[in-house]
Amino acid sequence: MSWNFQEIQETIRREAAQIADLKDLEAFRVKYLGRKGLVQDIYASLATLPHEQRPVVGKGANDLKNDVSSIVEERTKAIKARQARDPGEDIDVTTPGVTVPPGHRHILTQTVDDICGMFERLGFVVQEGPEIETEFNNFTALNIPVDHPSRDAFDTFYLELPDPDRPGRYQLLRSHTSPAQIRVMQKYQPPFGVIVPGRVYRPDAVDASHSFMFHQIEGLLVNEDVKFSDLKGLLTVFCRRFFGEKIKMRFRPHFFPFTEPSAEVDISCYICDGKGCSVCRRKGWLEIMGCGMVHPKVFVAAGYPAGKYTGLAFGLGVERIAMLKHGIQDIRLFFENDVRFLEQF
Ligand code: DAH
Repeated sequence: MSWNFQEIQETIRREAAQIADLKDLEAFRVKYLGRKGLVQDIYASLATLPHEQRPVVGKGANDLKNDVSSIVEERTKAIKARQARDPGEDIDVTTPGVTVPPGHRHILTQTVDDICGMFERLGFVVQEGPEIETEFNNFTALNIPVDHPSRDAFDTFYLELPDPDRPGRYQLLRSHTSPAQIRVMQKYQPPFGVIVPGRVYRPDAVDASHSFMFHQIEGLLVNEDVKFSDLKGLLTVFCRRFFGEKIKMRFRPHFFPFTEPSAEVDISCYICDGKGCSVCRRKGWLEIMGCGMVHPKVFVAAGYPAGKYTGLAFGLGVERIAMLKHGIQDIRLFFENDVRFLEQF
């Protein structure tokens, strides 16, 4: 095989002159420098040539390679510079546009915003507390002693992070939003009403109704003469606005260490109107939150003078409320990020 380098060089120059854009340029590069390109063919043919021809042909191939490389380099720069000056030139206006479907807030965020918004309109202020808490705020200050059985229900994930204020004690992922009560009281003097949304953690095995992480909303109102009737009135207004004016309310006596008296709030099932259905498991009532009057020991732990203030508190689970309101059967759906589920809300 013999190679006419002069002719090849001429062809290259002719073709180079016709290159209009980066696509042409790439085709040109591949034709000469690609793995199956001409330069490789020439190198491959060296072995078949008589010894004395090899250096000449080899040099010819090297020169070709260098020439094509510098043409490619120069033209790339030139084409890019031209595009930068006039980007319209290479835009195909008939290409369909790239559409980004509009997103929206996650159903849990919507629920948190709706609930907090309702309390804000009643004069409450949104506050947040940290997800990493001290044992003191999560338990002790809330009147949950170390050996109290009710602590089991709130037990949580401990971190290898020493508590800065209490030597020998560790920090943990908060198991409820109630420790925010302590932080708020340490920061503000009554009267105030705060509403605290946030994530909480419990070492629960995941199933249709449990998750090791979920969301709660805590409410706290402190003044000098807050009464249980204020608590009932406030939560009744909230539940009617959130679930509908027709629902009935029931305050069931309960125990929480940080409130006294304490209650659980039920609403009449808004699906069956209290007659009994699958949503309320034939009970006619749906349990939706815990509440009570702030325990005097909690005020003292937070640094308030004993006996001076009274307060009401409540706590609700966001996932539970969203599940009840929208008929969602499985808590895991909230966290799987399946757009087919999320886009329904
Ligand atoms: N912290 C409680 C829990 O996680 C919920 C709760 C109940 C909060 C009663 C309150 C309350 O503020 O008064 O189960």
